[in-house]
Amino acid sequence: MKGGAAPASNKAAMDARTLVAHVLAVAAIVLVLLWCIHFRGGLALRSQDKPLIFNVHPVLMVLGPIVLAGEAILSYRSLPLARDARKKVHLALHAAGLAGGVLGVYAVFKFHVESGIPNLYSLHSWVGIATVTLYGLQWTAGFLTYFFPGASPTTRRRTLPWHAVFGLLIFVLAVGTAQLGFLEKLTFMQGQPLRLPKYGAEALLINFTAVVVLLLGVAVVLATVNIDGTREGELPQRQRRERSCMDGQPGGKGGASAVAAPSRCMDERVEEEPRRRGRRGKRW
Ligand code: HEM
Ligand code: HEM
Repeated sequence: MKGGAAPASNKAAMDARTLVAHVLAVAAIVLVLLWCIHFRGGLALRSQDKPLIFNVHPVLMVLGPIVLAGEAILSYRSLPLARDARKKVHLALHAAGLAGGVLGVYAVFKFHVESGIPNLYSLHSWVGIATVTLYGLQWTAGFLTYFFPGASPTTRRRTLPWHAVFGLLIFVLAVGTAQLGFLEKLTFMQGQPLRLPKYGAEALLINFTAVVVLLLGVAVVLATVNIDGTREGELPQRQRRERSCMDGQPGGKGGASAVAAPSRCMDERVEEEPRRRGRRGKRW
């Protein structure tokens, strides 16, 4: 569907994509908890049973930089709130996602140190450190630029498309890192001494959880990019202006690079809003 669709169907299509992402987010958390609690004996940050400390890692890494980050990204279009409130929700959910990620990485380092296992020897751990570091940098840059103290309207306008694209890339990186983590853990467990059956219930559950996490990543990206101009339907009162704005994109209406399109349109509001409000306030 290209830009000529009716606003109501655009809104319905976007709501459906967002709903799919919410359902997959809940499923991912339920599955990873089922695995770590039912099959692996539970979670603990302090225990003589060291694998319980490890179990905190997958749960918090799925909850933080994936589920909460995904909800934060979707919050701009899924919540029926004023813009400022949505911005605070976006910021707070990302803060919670980052805290979960940092605590999850702390847990796996603690498990390694207390079990005499070397640190940072795997591709998963290298990409994982990069992901959490980039997530922290993105949060700090977003906070300083759009919240406090806030950059000038021109800087906000110029940086917003980059913020959106880098934000999605970091989210995708987190999903990829989790895939490596699930694969690595299952491969360890299928070797000595556990010799987990290759087609057993636990192996299937781990692989299935990884598939759900992957689908969640796809759903969040599809709900965020302006693939068919559905973003236009989000704010019907602004539809005409956003439509003409998107038409001005080099790729035309919609298209794969469209995550930047809404931002560019909204960037115009960065400058328009303070004028409308009659003060020199910040837009983002
Ligand atoms: C965004 C998601 C994730 C990130 C950023 C991440 C990050 C990390 C980091 C930095 C380490 C290194 C710890 C050390 O060297 O002491 C690590 C280890 C590990 N992670 Fe993850 N992780 C993620 C998700 C997962 C998931 C979902 C699993 C699934 C079980 C997992 C399984 C493991 C395993 C088995 C190790 C120990 C072996 C190794 O160091 O590679 N990770 N993770
Ligand atoms: C690591 C943390 C963050 C990530 C991964 C991230 C990611 C994103 C993404 C993907 C978008 C595009 C959403 C869309 O087009 O619907 C976005 C938009 C935005 N983000 Fe963030 N963000 C982060 C932190 C922050 C922070 C701390 C702020 C400060 C308030 C912020 C402010 C904004 C604003 C103002 C928008 C524009 C919303 C719009 O499209 O209308 N972000 N962010």
